[in-house]
Amino acid sequence: MSRPRVLSGMRPTGKLHLGNYMGALANWVKLQEQYECYFFIADLHALTTDYADTSQIAPNSLEVALDFLAAGLDPNRCTIFLQSLVKQHYELPLLLGMITPQGWLERVPSYKEMQENLTTKDLTTYGFLGYPVLMASDILLYQPKFVPVGQDQQAHVELTREIARRFNQFYKAEGREVLPEPQVLLTPSPKLPGTDGRKMSKSYGNTIQMTDPEPVVRQKLKTMVTDPARVRRTDAGDPDKCPVGDLHKVFSTPETLAKVYDGCRSAGIGCIECKSWAADALIQILKPIQERRASFTEAKVLDILHDGSNRAFARAAQTMEQVYDAMQLKLTNGAVE
Ligand code: TRP
Ligand code: SF4
Repeated sequence: MSRPRVLSGMRPTGKLHLGNYMGALANWVKLQEQYECYFFIADLHALTTDYADTSQIAPNSLEVALDFLAAGLDPNRCTIFLQSLVKQHYELPLLLGMITPQGWLERVPSYKEMQENLTTKDLTTYGFLGYPVLMASDILLYQPKFVPVGQDQQAHVELTREIARRFNQFYKAEGREVLPEPQVLLTPSPKLPGTDGRKMSKSYGNTIQMTDPEPVVRQKLKTMVTDPARVRRTDAGDPDKCPVGDLHKVFSTPETLAKVYDGCRSAGIGCIECKSWAADALIQILKPIQERRASFTEAKVLDILHDGSNRAFARAAQTMEQVYDAMQLKLTNGAVE
């Protein structure tokens, strides 16, 4: 019995934070039980913005791989791989690039936005414009049914569907479509504030890392912003207007949450106490993750990545076979074997 296939990836931004865990990894860990899953580290994507200094891409990829495993992705249940080790990720973008209208790429919402925001980098490159073609290829190589992503990536999966549709209109293998349109599986991502109350994000420097030891978690919670209406201990507050309250809603037990609502609204508890309960809940979540992380050596992680990349290669090769067949490039492909 074959299970529906799922594919998703993440850029190697370095050590991951709780937002990455709750927004993606925790969900992937559940998906591996029911689906045939491929999860990868998109190190070639890092080149679209970091081509001028590539020194951090490999070490960051290793950290992300460790965080995948720490979160509970199991290499016996899913395929974990590194994009740059699977050569079809260089191959399909060239072919899909031939059929992708330039206007489609220029209209991707993140294109202009990132060029305007990332002013320290020159993003007027062919590679940066073509980023969605790279992402479409990452996906279509595995002919997945579902692509679990957050809302920020939804437009890219929509474009992937359009590229697949266009490919299928031009080319067929023995009368059949070879690139099924994948569906977005919107990841439920709870509102997770960082220490400054804004969305937890590496670029804001407000994160709690998956690797933060207990004292660091407690210290970060201590300096976390609270309901601005609670200036003095005797002022009542509202957990619905407090980032610490938001953390409780995601991580605390119903009993603790009830104590937070009662205590905050009646000024019966202080913020220091309330924050220590939130820290307790976070530490509970992080403990097994950190223990798992410590159980992997670097050599073991590399082993897992190589093994997964070989499996991904074999699956992607099947798709490329069909793609060459559909595009009637089989002769070229076979002639150099
Ligand atoms: N673009 C995604 C991000 O920035 C990472 C990514 C690359 C991806 N290729 C993908 C996600 C394919 C899902 C499917 O996070
Ligand atoms: Fe926030 Fe808790 Fe303080 Fe209320 S008691 S303002 S929820 S930290």
